Amino acid sequence: MSILIKNGTIVTSVSEYQADILVEGEKIAAIGRNLDGRARETVDASGKYILPGGVDNHSHFALPFGGTWTRGFETTPAAIVGGTTTVVDFAPQPEGLSIREAVSKHSEERAEGTSVVDFAFHGMVMDANDSLFEEIPSLAEAGIPTVKLFMAYKGTPFMVDDGILFRALETSKKAGVTIMVHAENGDLIDVLQKQCVEKGQVEPKYHAVSRPPTVETEATARAVGIAALADAPIFVVHVSCKGAMEAVRDAYQAGVAAYGETCPHYLTLGVDNLSRPNFEGAKYVCSPALRSPDHHEALWQALDRGWLQVVGSDHCGFNWKEQKHLGVDDFTKIPNGAPSVQYRLNILWTYGVRRGKISRQKLVDVYSTAPAKLNGLFPRKGDIAPGSDADLVIFDDTYEGVISVEDSLEGVDYCAFEGMEQKGRVEKIFLRGKLSVDDGRFAGEKGQGRLLKGEPFGSAYQGV
Ligand code: URP
Ligand code: ZN
Ligand code: ZN
Repeated sequence: MSILIKNGTIVTSVSEYQADILVEGEKIAAIGRNLDGRARETVDASGKYILPGGVDNHSHFALPFGGTWTRGFETTPAAIVGGTTTVVDFAPQPEGLSIREAVSKHSEERAEGTSVVDFAFHGMVMDANDSLFEEIPSLAEAGIPTVKLFMAYKGTPFMVDDGILFRALETSKKAGVTIMVHAENGDLIDVLQKQCVEKGQVEPKYHAVSRPPTVETEATARAVGIAALADAPIFVVHVSCKGAMEAVRDAYQAGVAAYGETCPHYLTLGVDNLSRPNFEGAKYVCSPALRSPDHHEALWQALDRGWLQVVGSDHCGFNWKEQKHLGVDDFTKIPNGAPSVQYRLNILWTYGVRRGKISRQKLVDVYSTAPAKLNGLFPRKGDIAPGSDADLVIFDDTYEGVISVEDSLEGVDYCAFEGMEQKGRVEKIFLRGKLSVDDGRFAGEKGQGRLLKGEPFGSAYQGV
């Protein structure tokens, strides 16, 4: 099967130019002018941008959290209609299973045969014990070059102390594994939460009161400091505030291989959403907490200047009615996380590119190329180049609309970005050469996604 995509404007992380793209089978075969006559099918992309398929570095499909589960890989059509062709999902580690066993279980039982996007996995340590250090050296070989540790969620078996983080970093650097960290000070949050509850402050807005920027900034500075001591790369996930961003930036500028990610909601949604009446604030309970607009501005600037490298969704598909209501009498029991996998590209385009905060090339970098590199998937993913997978987004910049749960495929009963304006939209998507979105609608097949294995140490060797 061969397809010629004609006359589009190709945007990569480093360039923008008009050319035709010849797709043969699953790969990009050639890029150039006037490639006519070499394909069976032609798609006219005049007036459209062509972006590499998005790589979402941070999804939680089928995540057990707070006594309930997020929606699973059956909702990945939401990812692909939103421009994402690859997700790197956090594989939860059930008690007693190794990271490798947990990844296999998550992949075999939940993703394979169901996902409509390609998928790779991060290990996610939820049962922190000494076997972790024995296992880390074998992970990169198994195609799992990234492992997340939590510095928060006190009282769970997954919060780690500084010693465990240090030992994991020391072990990982020899093994080609990048440690990812959820950087919030779990001890301080625990005290602040208890103080709120004792005072009867149980509404969703106290989620943010008990997780102020300081608890994130302190933990981030500590994490990158520990990485410096271990002389190991570190990736800080879901950076939400200026101070934490500055800690990552300053560590990198001081020579530490410190990288960071922010998320669509931390770029656009204000902390005031948590005060919405009638428990609507619970829709916005995620960790770290949402912040005020000055933090949003600092994060946009950090993306523009390369101080943060990645925008991941941190997608968590919890229903508001049943699941978020588990915390109706106590905000500490609200499952943490917001749905967002469908909106990453829309938010970056409308509020970043169209408002002049980032260039189109920078958008491509943070939503596709850099996450592909950091996860050892580049150049198969994250680029438009001969030999890369033909994961291509044909994007119409002229569309204007409003984001609504009515159009959501996330499988939950609300949309965190409800009512926000949307400029531009995904028109068509090819996943490895297969048309999977047409006229903005899902046109692929259940189970078409394929398991990917990341190369060791994407971050250190690929110059993010
Ligand atoms: O609120 C969040 N982010 N929930 C998902 C788990 C995590 O910490 O990433
Ligand atoms: Zn986290
Ligand atoms: Zn997360």
